[in-house]
Amino acid sequence: MKFNQSNIKKAKKYLDKDKCIGLPTETVYGLAANAYSSIAVKKIFKLKKRPKSNPLIVHYSSFNALKKDCEINDNFIKLYKKFSPGPITYILKLKKDSKISTYVTNKGKNLAVRFPKHIIFKKLLKELKYPLAAPSANISTRLSAVEASDVKEEFGSSIKCILDGGRSKIGIESTIISLISKPCILRLGGLEVSKIEKVLNKKVNLNTSPKKKIAPGQSRLHYSPGIPLKKNVKKSKIDEAFILIRKRKVKLNNYYYLSKKNDLKEAAKNLYSCLRKIKNKGYKSISVEKIPNKGLGKTINDRLDRASKY
Ligand code: TXA
Ligand code: MG
Repeated sequence: MKFNQSNIKKAKKYLDKDKCIGLPTETVYGLAANAYSSIAVKKIFKLKKRPKSNPLIVHYSSFNALKKDCEINDNFIKLYKKFSPGPITYILKLKKDSKISTYVTNKGKNLAVRFPKHIIFKKLLKELKYPLAAPSANISTRLSAVEASDVKEEFGSSIKCILDGGRSKIGIESTIISLISKPCILRLGGLEVSKIEKVLNKKVNLNTSPKKKIAPGQSRLHYSPGIPLKKNVKKSKIDEAFILIRKRKVKLNNYYYLSKKNDLKEAAKNLYSCLRKIKNKGYKSISVEKIPNKGLGKTINDRLDRASKY
């Protein structure tokens, strides 16, 4: 469904009836439903085949809307002013009288919140009386969707409304930061940690390792194309797909480029669509050349590590 005002109205009708819809964000596509309704939230878990223990991110249109459900703190205000709307998710304390369905957090006391930047998402939220719970629009553990057609590929006819907002600009999920006590990164994402550290004026710890698991999304098997993937490969076999960080003069049939010239932002944007393309071509395995481990390259490597645990 292309984007116009009447489609926003249609999407609202679905949501008001506790149904799930697919919709674009600047990071990846989301599978959204009313975060105040347990009936609606349960449908998200069912459609995604997601364990109930893995909590959802709730998307808000404004600071004022968020204040009704969460406790605000100084670090949040600093980061919110600089980066929201945008590719950052904050973990905050839920208020006792919050209306968020207990299924969103699996009865937990903290809530992941985000302010999406995509114009369609913003326009839709303005029409609604509730925030939207929206995990990435893919079956659990599989590749995230960066186009409306990817959402269709994941869910087929089981969702009836997908708003088409074109290709996601960032193409990789938001960075998650816990602000419950000392700030701590729980998931690398579309916003570089160095930018967050600059605003908070201190070093921020990372807790993205599967051993000390806090966010279930830190689990090993995640973002998986469903075929084996190897990192840091210098030379690939001819019968496997070879992902390269930059374009080469020689173009072999099994070569897939993430960017024209070593551009990590462009590479992050292309990562999921590249993996999806390879999977759909029927390759049995993937090799990836070494990706520089700096800036968004760290996020790319994180996703490749998890994808390689298949
Ligand atoms: O860019 C994004 O963040 C996308 C778009 C659609 O907004 N959403 C997304 O959602 O990536 P999802 O559900 O695929 O990943 C959310 C991650 C999961 O790993 C989940 O475990 C973690 O956030 N999470 C959610 N609530 C949490 C909480 N209260 N405490 C710790 N981690 C939480
Ligand atoms: Mg996800």
